[in-house]
Amino acid sequence: MKNYTLVLLALAFMTIVQFTITSCQYKNEEEFFCDTSNVTYSVTITKILQDNCYRCHGKASNSKSGGIILEDYNVLKTFAADGRFYGNAAHLPNYIPMPFDGGMLTDCQIRQIKNWVDKGYPQN
Ligand code: HEC
Repeated sequence: MKNYTLVLLALAFMTIVQFTITSCQYKNEEEFFCDTSNVTYSVTITKILQDNCYRCHGKASNSKSGGIILEDYNVLKTFAADGRFYGNAAHLPNYIPMPFDGGMLTDCQIRQIKNWVDKGYPQN
């Protein structure tokens, strides 16, 4: 009985160690693979918006939240220029945090947006 308890304890301990190692690796990998040097509108930015924003700000979205169609580059450009694209995405103070219904983009996605905006939001 005593041995059995010890084995269970050992198993629990190993699971915790394994979990800790895995989550650290995952974090490092995301950090490692966060590519902020090749950010383009056509691939990087569009993908982020598609996955997180177009369901409200897309051309086909019924609600067209706030009447803002970010799928239109010319619209997105104006919000990139006035700081609201980055400010809302990064949840900066005094901005409206997006996505509107909760959650937040990953650190990596926010850095990619910042990088693209800082480069003058090219339609590349
Ligand atoms: C669930 C729907 C929804 C999603 C998803 C969503 N938005 Fe919004 N968004 C809104 C609504 C509603 C408004 C209008 C808010 C207001 O004016 O109070 C808005 C407004 C905005 C504005 C202009 C608001 C301002 O600051 O004046 C920007 C920029 C914006 N959203 C960016 C984004 C980005 C970037 C994403 C994806 C990361 C996103 N939104 C995802 C609903 C959404």
